[in-house]
Amino acid sequence: MGIGGDNIAIQFNHLQKDFGLAKYLVTGGAGFIGSHLVSALNGLDHQVIVLDNLSSGRRENIENWLGPNTCLVEGDIRDQSLVENLLAETAGAFHLAALVSVPQSIERPTESFSINLEGTLNLLEASRKQGNKKIVFASSAAVYGNRHSYPVSETMAGQPISPYGLHKLMCEQHAELFANLYNVNSVGMRFFNVYGPRQDPSSPYSGVISIFIDRLRRGLAPTIYGDGSQTRDFVYVGDVVQALIKAMNSKKQGFAAYNVGRGESVTINMLWQILCDVVGTNLPAKLGPAREGEIHTSLANISKIEAELGYKAEITLQEGLIKTYEWATQ
Ligand SMILES: NC(=O)c1ccc[n+]([C@@H]2O[C@H](COP(=O)([O-])OP(=O)(O)OC[C@H]3O[C@@H](n4cnc5c(N)ncnc54)[C@H](O)[C@@H]3O)[C@@H](O)[C@H]2O)c1
Repeated sequence: MGIGGDNIAIQFNHLQKDFGLAKYLVTGGAGFIGSHLVSALNGLDHQVIVLDNLSSGRRENIENWLGPNTCLVEGDIRDQSLVENLLAETAGAFHLAALVSVPQSIERPTESFSINLEGTLNLLEASRKQGNKKIVFASSAAVYGNRHSYPVSETMAGQPISPYGLHKLMCEQHAELFANLYNVNSVGMRFFNVYGPRQDPSSPYSGVISIFIDRLRRGLAPTIYGDGSQTRDFVYVGDVVQALIKAMNSKKQGFAAYNVGRGESVTINMLWQILCDVVGTNLPAKLGPAREGEIHTSLANISKIEAELGYKAEITLQEGLIKTYEWATQ
């Protein structure tokens, strides 16, 4: 499987004119989404400091961009003085480092609290001490939990059903408080199901698309947990990077949360069918028990991010699956 490379670099030159040259901290920059952001920031001639403990990320993900403009600091987001020192060198931070798995957060809630909430607080606090540098951070659709009506909008109160979702919601609440008390500007990006090249399929907790593609490559049937009727709003990683950069570029003061999805959803059964069509196979999937803490339905209302940040989901699911499959089989 390929690692990175210019063939999957995402073009953001059209954003350049709004976005002064600067140096940014990217926490979790060696991970899946972070490595695409690092690539895009490099393409815009920004300098980047990546802070990552390489727990789920990999140096190879950003190897192509390490050099005079981009460096990797191996360290932990929970290290307050390290975070302060690194933020001091930059104009602002994209904060993506996290314990990213819902099942792992159920197994290890205090670790999720410490990495996901306290790690984010470290950055907010560092920003407060340094004259309010902007923090754009990864929140999650998991803040919504199971709802009766869809699509979900940012005006709905959070009802998380996992430690992961709760801690992401608490990050947003702290960010809003820091905006009100100390004028720290920040943006919480409620990512829906992000997929694309470099998503690691090796863990059972990985994104479903990376696991399905990995099974297809090996001619093996995947397991669908539950009856496959659960729905997800899948968004291509290039669109997520676009949203992150637009959020950093926004002149809006205070705190805001945005849904980052496509505003369309498919069932997991349909996803498997579309992937089989892309690849030209008709392998039936196996069914396994439903997973604890998993939401059944997921669909984003993206009108707020479209109106306020000018975001537009550009890559259809079919196009994104083709790109991801091509990368996985290159
Ligand atoms: N992928 C998705 O579908 C999705 C959906 C919703 C939210 N998110 C959020 O987006 C962000 C990025 O997720 P991803 O899919 O790229 O996952 P990822 O696991 O590829 O990236 C997370 C990165 O954070 C690093 N990290 C973890 N703990 C750390 C710590 N204590 N200190 C420093 N670095 C640490 C990991 O090594 C990794 O590089 C996360 O905050 C995640 O919660 C992702």
